[in-house]
Amino acid sequence: MNTGTLSIDFGKRLDKTAEATEALLAELLSDEPLDNEIERPKRLIEAMRYGSLNGGKRLRPFLVVESAAVFGVSPKGALLAGAALECIHCYSLVHDDLPAMDNSDLRRGRPTAHKAYDDATAILAGDALLTLAFDITTRDEIHSDASVRLALTRALARASGIGGMAGGQILDLAGEGRFGDKTPPDVSKLQQMKTGALLRFACQAGAILGRASQKEYAALDDYGRAFGEAFQIADDLLDVEGDAAALGKNTGQDAALGKTTFVTLLGIDGAKKRLRDLLARADATLSMFGEKADVLRAAARFVAERKS
Ligand code: IPE
Ligand code: IPE
Ligand code: MG
Ligand code: MG
Ligand code: MG
Repeated sequence: MNTGTLSIDFGKRLDKTAEATEALLAELLSDEPLDNEIERPKRLIEAMRYGSLNGGKRLRPFLVVESAAVFGVSPKGALLAGAALECIHCYSLVHDDLPAMDNSDLRRGRPTAHKAYDDATAILAGDALLTLAFDITTRDEIHSDASVRLALTRALARASGIGGMAGGQILDLAGEGRFGDKTPPDVSKLQQMKTGALLRFACQAGAILGRASQKEYAALDDYGRAFGEAFQIADDLLDVEGDAAALGKNTGQDAALGKTTFVTLLGIDGAKKRLRDLLARADATLSMFGEKADVLRAAARFVAERKS
């Protein structure tokens, strides 16, 4: 594998998917009501745009598109599935930043949604982004076969809800000791749910859209799990060692809030070692796909080395 060429190519591919996702989200968040929608209130749709447009690495849509590409799936449906996932991700960030949760005032280099609007508007913008995601996954353009759309919708619901992201968020808050429980949280489980589930879904989505065999699905699923853990370790390290300006979000938040993270669990060096091990695991999970998975290999390195 020629890593030099690939890293240039990788940056371009990530940018291309990010631009396409941005355009698609802008279209999905137009002022025009859809069938059975009565009106799209200006303040709500503007806050939804604020929380989802003009920013973000768009890593999750990228993973959907690139894992679907392993099976030769064209980007059109995959991009739409990626946009649905990005709606969930953006909603999770808008809610994560609320005073009742992490109380952050900076996100993607700008004031957080509740700072730019108000708490109630930010809550509703999150709610409406969440429901929009499931409107999107029902659309014919995602895949001509309704059973594929159904599998995708169910997988997205499972990744987002009680046993996925939302569940992980409550474990994260419980880990601060705010509900009176003094037992330290299981960081690995917490991560797998809070952050891992959506990233894992992104890889599952490619396999679902590509009608992967069971073995192929399992390999991508395993890659998604290693990727998700690597991503959160990098996020936890950046909260300690990163630069707020480059990150576009507050640093030092985890320690200030008394969160249990991979850094508190393993220490900085231990977290970095675990990150290296996960990269090797991510690489190994993709062996059956050969060169077709080179971009996914580069994506794992990218998250591990990212500065923003
Ligand atoms: C940040 O996710 C929040 C976590 C899940 C830890 P990203 O780092 O992917 O954020 P954006 O979308 O690029 O802003
Ligand atoms: C947020 O985790 C995860 C979700 C939004 C689901 P963090 O609280 O660590 O994310 P940042 O650091 O604020 O981006
Ligand atoms: Mg949080
Ligand atoms: Mg946070
Ligand atoms: Mg964080």
